[in-house]
Amino acid sequence: MASVITYGTFDVFHVGHLRLLERAKALCGGDGLLTVAVSSDRFNWEEKRKKCVISDLQRMEIVRALRCVDRVIVEDSWAQKREDIKRYDIDIFVMGDDWEGKFDDLSDLCKVVYLPRTPGVSSTEIKQRI
Ligand code: CTP
Repeated sequence: MASVITYGTFDVFHVGHLRLLERAKALCGGDGLLTVAVSSDRFNWEEKRKKCVISDLQRMEIVRALRCVDRVIVEDSWAQKREDIKRYDIDIFVMGDDWEGKFDDLSDLCKVVYLPRTPGVSSTEIKQRI
């Protein structure tokens, strides 16, 4: 059993997001909890210059409704990860491998795992296609 956390925007929710979250949940084992930090509109725009088409409240509502997700929190800064890991007693920090190596500094607090992305799909690509 393990407590797992992951972070993301999850705009125009797609199958790559679902598979990432299902694999993160599988790492929890029996009774472990999956916490998902969904990035706020403010954080996306002011820190990443990324404009979402679905609001943060709606993106959180969608992620919260998934069977594999136990808890949803807001991501509103780059720096909050260390506090979240301590507050929620996290054992494993998970990200897709587009972030490979970027969060290795957290490995003094918990295990850091990068899962392979589902090929051929991304929110950016879907928005461009539409
Ligand atoms: N993810 C994945 N496979 C994909 C797309 C995303 O495993 N094909 C994972 C990311 O690696 C991340 C999480 O889903 O851990 C949330 O990713 P997010 O950035 O919201 O999704 P993207 O579709 O990559 O969005 P964008 O195109 O805006 O970067």
